[in-house]
Amino acid sequence: MPLLDARHRPLKALRISVTDRCNFRCRYCMPRELFGASDVGEGEHGAAFLPKGEILHFEELERVARIFVALGVDKLRLTGGEPLLRQDLPDLVARLRRLDGLKDLALTTNGALLKELANPLKAAGLDRLTVSLDTLDPAKFARLNDTTVPLPRVLEGIEAARAAGFAPLKLNCVLQKGVNYDEILDLLQFAKDRGLVLRFIEFMDVGTLNGWKLDAVVPAAEVLATIRTRWAIEPVAEPLAGRVAERWKFSDGSGEFGVIASVSAPFCSGCDRARLSAEGKLYTCLFGSEGLDLKTALRNGASDADLSALLRVKWSRRDDHYSEIRTQETARNRKVEMFHIGG
Ligand code: GTP
Ligand code: 5AD
Ligand code: SF4
Ligand code: SF4
Repeated sequence: MPLLDARHRPLKALRISVTDRCNFRCRYCMPRELFGASDVGEGEHGAAFLPKGEILHFEELERVARIFVALGVDKLRLTGGEPLLRQDLPDLVARLRRLDGLKDLALTTNGALLKELANPLKAAGLDRLTVSLDTLDPAKFARLNDTTVPLPRVLEGIEAARAAGFAPLKLNCVLQKGVNYDEILDLLQFAKDRGLVLRFIEFMDVGTLNGWKLDAVVPAAEVLATIRTRWAIEPVAEPLAGRVAERWKFSDGSGEFGVIASVSAPFCSGCDRARLSAEGKLYTCLFGSEGLDLKTALRNGASDADLSALLRVKWSRRDDHYSEIRTQETARNRKVEMFHIGG
């Protein structure tokens, strides 16, 4: 019997944040004035970055993942902060890849360190990779993703991932009015020319720091209308369960792209994802405020059976459906920050 939550949704996917640090300061995630310049944080929230002893080690991550897989999870995704900043990440990938029953092991990265790490990650057994790319304009990239890493470094990282054999390789683009709204066609042309699957993401009110406003969101319907000015496109039929992106294809068979309409068309009814923060807290929604502290249980000698029981209770009581009830007011609620649970 699959483990079901209070809304009859199974537990199928776990997103594991392996670090809360990042070498970017994307305006929509960790604005520099609040987090400071370096990847250890110096601003008002600098102290919020976790010291090394506070984050789960590889043995702990592997153990937690094994227990989740035994409960029905068959998809794992590594996130951050920026996951490639975690030392020896390919070793963790190799450990997780060996878990019996795991079907899919993926990772979401900003791409800055991918040129060096694409091959080691592939060799360690990573199945799929997604790279964030919001703009093709170097000056806008420096402003929006707010990093000294130059855009060509990310583009080289994407090339390295392609060369390493990650296929389909996905790109994520968070769209905002007045920011990169004008680049929809250029970004899609870039992806199409290279056989990459670009997904346009509606800007979300994740965390409490990004100054989210509904006005800044570019609804998926507008994105699709813009794309239709250049290409004939059609939807790819797919089951709803567990789906985040709506898949679309070019009618001439030249590729695929997606829209992630988490604001205009929420997908909570099929949401089968749990999220583990780098410090070992479990969240059952991207917009949760309280996490279940697994690290304390792990470090206080809980057995696998104890941990499994904790997870069963947590999931079976889960009633989250934030995106279905979002308003400009709920957007100001206290919520876990994006860089703690990696989106
Ligand atoms: P695939 O398995 O390749 O479809 O991966 P994914 O789309 O689940 O992962 P990715 O890390 O690329 O996430 C893409 C975007 O969708 C990010 O902006 C996430 O924050 C967002 N997203 C992923 N899962 C959820 C979710 O459960 N709820 C909401 N609201 N957004 C989500
Ligand atoms: N809204 C939508 N997507 C976001 N991401 C980060 N912050 C936000 C936000 N506020 C995206 C990143 C990355 C993915 C994991 O989440 O661009 O691709
Ligand atoms: Fe870093 Fe990703 Fe957040 Fe950008 S969205 S600051 S790359 S964690
Ligand atoms: Fe799942 Fe929460 Fe996102 Fe809804 S808002 S899809 S419940 S993570």
